[in-house]
Amino acid sequence: MSFEQCFIQLPKIETSRLLLRQITESPEDGRDSLEFINDYSVYRFWGVYDEANDTNGRRRPKKKIKLDYHYKATMKEYKAKRELTWLMELKETGKIIGEIVLYDFRLNKQADIGYRINKDYWGLGFAPEAGQAVLKFAFEVMDLGRLQIRCFTNNNGSIRVAQKLGFVQEGLIRKGAIINVITDYYIFGKLKEEYQDSPIPDSQAKIILPEAWNETIIEDSNS
Ligand SMILES: CC(C)(COP(=O)(O)OP(=O)(O)OC[C@H]1O[C@@H](n2cnc3c(N)ncnc32)[C@H](O)[C@@H]1OP(=O)(O)O)[C@@H](O)C(=O)NCCC(=O)NCCS
Repeated sequence: MSFEQCFIQLPKIETSRLLLRQITESPEDGRDSLEFINDYSVYRFWGVYDEANDTNGRRRPKKKIKLDYHYKATMKEYKAKRELTWLMELKETGKIIGEIVLYDFRLNKQADIGYRINKDYWGLGFAPEAGQAVLKFAFEVMDLGRLQIRCFTNNNGSIRVAQKLGFVQEGLIRKGAIINVITDYYIFGKLKEEYQDSPIPDSQAKIILPEAWNETIIEDSNS
């Protein structure tokens, strides 16, 4: 499969409790996304807020309130071929409880994974469940050779997710940059050959390839 096809239409992935899918302009997607985007306990680890240099809390990000905010921000990165973002939709209720992102692509062979979950749903294993699905997609469909997770050294929750996904801690970066923040962070890595030792079975993550991908392959082979 082509790396490029992922930016024509994003495949859905179904896990036991989640449907991973692209964001839509619906008010429901907007409303549910704002719940985790606006939450300090979530954005403090997202690299958008320099907590260490804001002792009185005055520089905390302004609360986003427009329902289409996250749709526009997400699709801008998607159309620029910089990020693949899946919302995590709870199959049982349809609620969007978080998202998982592949970003910082290098040479079409390496990417970082980021994940954030609505605090009301922490501790239920949703990030590892979505993470396994995206691992399968990245290594089996996109044919990446390496995935990374970078997390602040004080982000125990994310460190645990990286460990549960079988990533190896490769280093401690001192005063490095994560998006807009200078911080100490750990870097975790997983290689395709390590994934292949214990691949995620289809029964745990079902990747649904879009029709548009087949049409593109036909066009490619005729051109
Ligand atoms: C990190 C995060 C994605 C984990 O998601 P999750 O679906 O709760 O993952 P898990 O259920 O596997 O829990 C992972 C760890 O989170 C911690 N945790 C779980 N529930 C928690 C809670 N209510 N409060 C604080 N920490 C909690 C525990 O250390 C847990 O490890 P354990 O299972 O060994 O006890 C989530 O906490 C989050 O969105 N954090 C803010 C954003 C963020 O840090 N993103 C990662 C950037 S690299």
